[in-house]
Amino acid sequence: TSSCKKTTKVHFFLASTLISFLFISPFAQLRLQMEDVLGDGGILKEVIQSGEGPPVPENASILIHYSAFLEYSDQPFETTTRCKYPRMMKLGRDVTLFGLQLGLLTMKKGEFSRFLFQPDYAYGDLGCPPFIPAAAEVLYEVHIVDYFDSAQMDDFIALSLEEQNSFPLSTLLKVVDTLRGFGNRCFNQSNYYNAKDRYKQAVRLLGNRETQNDADKETIQTALLPLYLNISLTELRLDSPHKALKYSNKALEIDRTNTKALFRCGQAYLDLHEYESAHRCLISAQAKKPFDVDINNLLRRVAMCYKKSIDQQKELYSKMFQHLRSPVKDKCLLIFSGFNSFLLPPTPSGTLLLLACC
Ligand SMILES: *[C@@H]1O[C@H](CO)[C@@H](O)[C@H](O)[C@H]1NC(C)=O
Ligand SMILES: *[C@@H]1O[C@H](CO)[C@@H](O)[C@H](O)[C@H]1NC(C)=O
Ligand SMILES: *[C@@H]1O[C@H](CO)[C@@H](O)[C@H](O)[C@H]1NC(C)=O
Repeated sequence: TSSCKKTTKVHFFLASTLISFLFISPFAQLRLQMEDVLGDGGILKEVIQSGEGPPVPENASILIHYSAFLEYSDQPFETTTRCKYPRMMKLGRDVTLFGLQLGLLTMKKGEFSRFLFQPDYAYGDLGCPPFIPAAAEVLYEVHIVDYFDSAQMDDFIALSLEEQNSFPLSTLLKVVDTLRGFGNRCFNQSNYYNAKDRYKQAVRLLGNRETQNDADKETIQTALLPLYLNISLTELRLDSPHKALKYSNKALEIDRTNTKALFRCGQAYLDLHEYESAHRCLISAQAKKPFDVDINNLLRRVAMCYKKSIDQQKELYSKMFQHLRSPVKDKCLLIFSGFNSFLLPPTPSGTLLLLACC
């Protein structure tokens, strides 16, 4: 009978384990595969997809997607997944949840992780009515798309010109790089005005630099060139071809044969319907990079637009010619003034028209 008792006991034990396993709460089940970040059980973490590079630095600006859940709820009480782009959040300013703040510092670029925060590291004993109940444990799913070390950048920008100049040039270049990274990110999200602001801020910082020697001067110029090209492209996106041209010319002042700058010039002139100038820039670019697909495609487009504009003008003139059946002096003048503003060389039909008119 003792062996019978034993097996009953074992059966009872197995059954209760199974039952407790079946009825274990969702968060408790997650906890089994998570690691304790601080050692006090307040922040538990599970890496779903690991990232790369160094972990997020203090005061960084982070580009993240995240969703936050309460236990037994499929619907997040907070999420960025409905946004088209990840959210940019500055640590220490935009991230207010203590646990999330600490959790983010353990993450790397590209990482996707799951965190469980005890109330002390989340919304406390009071919760946050009506959404977060009292003493709630919360689950965060976080994906770090990218981050920028904005602490250094912000500190540097806040300094006076004199103080800025007292830093080594390498510090300035690092700040400029960060600003440009920000700008590129804004650009990539079609946020062209902000992108332009970042690029221009970087240009200003470089312009403020008092340089002692030629080597430093050259370093500054080298850093300015890609920024001018970035601004030029941004102005093109903003439908400001005149400004785009201005900045591509600034780039050309630094490097007369820079193909990217010549290409931007070509784009700007095309937008301005100045086809001969566009052609001239692109031919120079092509001379340096004969097999560049972008350059060759744009050259073809310029040629097509040029031809189309000539055809349209021909049509315009022939229409005017029809109206000249009963010659009036005013109309004659109109053709003359029209002809003067016509940038392209006179076409045979244009010449004929002039003769007919006079
Ligand atoms: C982060 O910001 C805080 C507050 O502005 C500051 O006290 C701290 O020194 C900064 N940390 C770094 C690493 O810049
Ligand atoms: C720009 O966005 C696309 C997706 O929209 C992404 O694949 C690409 O890596 C981004 N580039 C930069 C420089 O952020
Ligand atoms: C800005 O310039 C850098 C370096 O030339 C380039 O990698 C980046 O794609 C450019 N971004 C834009 C939006 O022009």
